[in-house]
Amino acid sequence: MFKTVRLSEHHRREDFSCGKPTLDHYLKRQANQDIKRKLSACFVLEGANYQIKGYYTLSSDNIPLVIVPSEIKKKMPASYHYLPTTLIGRLALDTRFQRQRLGELLLIDALKRCFLLSHEIGSMAVLVDPLDTDATTFYSQYGFIKLESGRMFLPMKTISEIF
Ligand SMILES: CC(C)(COP(=O)(O)OP(=O)(O)OC[C@H]1O[C@@H](n2cnc3c(N)ncnc32)[C@H](O)[C@@H]1OP(=O)(O)O)[C@@H](O)C(=O)NCCC(=O)NCCS
Repeated sequence: MFKTVRLSEHHRREDFSCGKPTLDHYLKRQANQDIKRKLSACFVLEGANYQIKGYYTLSSDNIPLVIVPSEIKKKMPASYHYLPTTLIGRLALDTRFQRQRLGELLLIDALKRCFLLSHEIGSMAVLVDPLDTDATTFYSQYGFIKLESGRMFLPMKTISEIF
């Protein structure tokens, strides 16, 4: 069964390597600080002995109404200058586990969590911050739309149709 858990002090962060130094560094040096400061939550796919196969982070975020695609914007009340969203700030898989569809499962797990949380705290879309063109290609496959800011956007309504 595919199951993610909250990052804990037992997880072996030092062994993690996804091929993108900034994402490795974040997990090793910053993730726990961000969790303590309530800046983000971090979920991991764990292997035996607290190995980290992959991880992602979630935070509350918002998006200016003016940059939302027009077909969505016209359905939103104009009084909302910013729309509430959820950010998948980082998502990465250790190189030993890449290209086995686990990245896809990790993304679906993150989207499901965002969708379930949107029943408790309003959030009309999920945002991602693609690091490079590979990441943009990866997220495009799942319907994420590129915004002017470089961020990518998937409406919660689209996500609700999956779950
Ligand atoms: C991006 C990442 C999460 C994908 O995970 P993965 O397990 O290797 O990918 P999957 O096996 O689930 O593949 C899913 C689809 O994405 C595609 N894909 C995977 N990695 C890709 C890449 N680097 N560039 C473009 N497409 C990619 C696969 O070809 C597959 O598409 P297909 O159905 O056409 O075959 C993983 O490669 C990773 O952690 N990379 C380093 C960190 C990173 O760049 N994160 C991106 C967010 S900032």
